[in-house]
Amino acid sequence: MTRFVIVEKSELTDRITSFVLKPEDGSALPAWTAGAHIDLELGNPGARSYSLIEWPGDTSDVYRIAVQREPEGDGGSIAVHELSAGDVIEVSEPKNSFELVDGDEPVALIAGGIGVTPLISMATRLSASGRPFSFHYTGRSAGVMACRERLGESFSDQLTCYFDDQAPIDLHQTVEQIRDHRLYVCGPKGMIEAVRSAAEAAGIPSDKVHVELFTSAAPVEGDKPFEVEVSSSGDVFTIPPGRTIIEVLEENGVDLMYDCQRGDCGICQTDVLEGVPDHRDVVLSEAEKESGKVMQICVSRALSERLVLDL
Ligand code: FES
Repeated sequence: MTRFVIVEKSELTDRITSFVLKPEDGSALPAWTAGAHIDLELGNPGARSYSLIEWPGDTSDVYRIAVQREPEGDGGSIAVHELSAGDVIEVSEPKNSFELVDGDEPVALIAGGIGVTPLISMATRLSASGRPFSFHYTGRSAGVMACRERLGESFSDQLTCYFDDQAPIDLHQTVEQIRDHRLYVCGPKGMIEAVRSAAEAAGIPSDKVHVELFTSAAPVEGDKPFEVEVSSSGDVFTIPPGRTIIEVLEENGVDLMYDCQRGDCGICQTDVLEGVPDHRDVVLSEAEKESGKVMQICVSRALSERLVLDL
């Protein structure tokens, strides 16, 4: 983690605010690829990840992010919105679990709401490289869609906007038209699942559909505690509602691999030896979910009283 100063804070919509961050010691920033995110250390809520934004012509001496205030969320977005220009925070190096795959095939970027942020950087890099792409941006209404006008100015040939309150996107029709594209989708869980199902219906192979969720899985009313047994040690831990398997196991000294903690990168995937998982990720296919043999332990829970995990 490195100390960064917030050098600019500006409101994009009622709920979305952009921040520009610069290293406190003036050091150069590491190179990063489109789709990357940084973690902000926010104190009480812990660290939260935000996608880096790059527009055509941007300098590379600052990080740019945009954050949507989520009053019903876990406190991370509220903590970011409380930051002011001049504040100093700890920031991680960029990481990327949502990379553009090299190639010549056309690319389709599909954004829902604030999920537009990593796709702005992708559009900038695709445009600079001359690779063909289309950009589909959906939101509840024009007024709540951050950066819509600037996107129109920067990518007028590629951008189509869809407004739920006027003419919502017809995902099956849209995906059918871009069936030869590689798809990058960022938005809420329902939209990602709908694009996945439209892509499957259009015959697009699942490895050509890349996704990133922009919110972590919220607790669901009625969540119950369950037990997790770590197979290598036999240790058993209780996972209460509102806490994840990763959080509980890690604070008890179990060494785990993970990244996004939203259920979209696949890094925390774990074999299930016994018990029935309650899948809440967007990584696994329907067949994998139904098999019950693997799960993403950053977001998924249990339908049975105990899971035995291959850890
Ligand atoms: S850490 Fe990314 S899916 Fe679990």
